[in-house]
Amino acid sequence: MELAVISGTGLFTPQESISNDELVTSFNQYVENFNHHHRAEIAAGVLEALLPSSVEFIEKASGIKSRYVVDKKGLLNPNIMAPRIPERGNDELSLQAEMAVVAAKQALQSAHKTSDDIDAVIIACSNLQRAYPAVSVEVQNALGIKGFAFDMNVACSSATFGIQTAENMVRTGKARAVLVINPEICTAHLNFRNRDSHFIFGDACTAMVIENKSACQAKHAFEIIDSTLVTNFSNNIRNNFGFLNCTHPEGIGKPDKLFVQEGRKVFKDVVPMVVEMITEHLAKLNLSASDIKMFFLHQANLNMNRLIASKLLGREAEFHEAPVILDEYANTSSAGSVIAFHKYKDKLTKDDMSILCSFGAGYSVGNVVLKRV
Ligand code: COA
Repeated sequence: MELAVISGTGLFTPQESISNDELVTSFNQYVENFNHHHRAEIAAGVLEALLPSSVEFIEKASGIKSRYVVDKKGLLNPNIMAPRIPERGNDELSLQAEMAVVAAKQALQSAHKTSDDIDAVIIACSNLQRAYPAVSVEVQNALGIKGFAFDMNVACSSATFGIQTAENMVRTGKARAVLVINPEICTAHLNFRNRDSHFIFGDACTAMVIENKSACQAKHAFEIIDSTLVTNFSNNIRNNFGFLNCTHPEGIGKPDKLFVQEGRKVFKDVVPMVVEMITEHLAKLNLSASDIKMFFLHQANLNMNRLIASKLLGREAEFHEAPVILDEYANTSSAGSVIAFHKYKDKLTKDDMSILCSFGAGYSVGNVVLKRV
């Protein structure tokens, strides 16, 4: 068996950002407009008045302070409250492919690789912008990569599931090097009219080069010591958008065709699942949490990450042990833990161990144990 390393990473961050203040102002304007428009039904008890959102709640409940977005104007317009992204012609690069190409080029550069060195491209993310052709094949073409490409979706855990898929290809010699890319346009699946979750997501794209250790030319690389995945069915995070929607036109545009969650239940179910999985995974490798220098955890909720880290370590984690990017980026689904890795991995020195862990809809959890080489 060959050894696999993550030898390069890249990050595309949209230019526009929305603060909690801006988001709440727009949401509260929508609430005011709705309550005014429906004042008669509300007075008659036929409709419930909507409640306003608050910056304090968002920051306390989630740790999120802002999010990068592909379209700020549409999102902040109280009459639209959704990104407005013009359709592109078939001869133009699609938006998701465009983000992916930017992140992939950075990852290739940091790995000291060119397109000729890559044998496969995996787009792993929560939402794909079309059914086919696969976005990954479009990216493969744009980068001039030979070999093959495919898309995969395991929601927030897409990146770790993608890493293991690439790791297996490299270990078995099926590919010399693989690009795993996570273009997440989460604002397009978020219901910005839902008070419980309108603040949760942002947009970003990450990319990683995963390759055979013996061919690695990067100054610093991260050997994939082992990876483990688990899924466990739950309806607590769900999105019923899909190609069969048009077969039942009455359901089109209903809230269940966007992201819906039972946030409290997710919190309660997923924390123990993640702690148990990481503990067992480390034990299998004769390691314990104290051997891990950095925990690159999924970036959905700060309180959740604090709890997971403190259960693993038996004490509160310092920022440098469990870096946080969700304050600035919000939840970018599968890209989140990879953004933390991309931004903070250089703090690790030779032989330092770290983990990259994701968790989310499915439920799905993925854990990758890494050693800086
Ligand atoms: N502004 C002000 N108050 C709000 C609000 C908002 N935007 N949204 C909800 N509230 C209120 C609720 O009405 C409730 O009030 P009550 O106590 O009077 O009934 C109170 O705040 C608590 O609401 P709750 O939904 O229970 O909040 P929470 O503390 O569970 O936090 C989440 C909500 C979503 C941030 C949190 O549950 C979470 O992040 N869970 C994990 C989600 C996750 O990881 N998902 C993965 C996605 S891929």
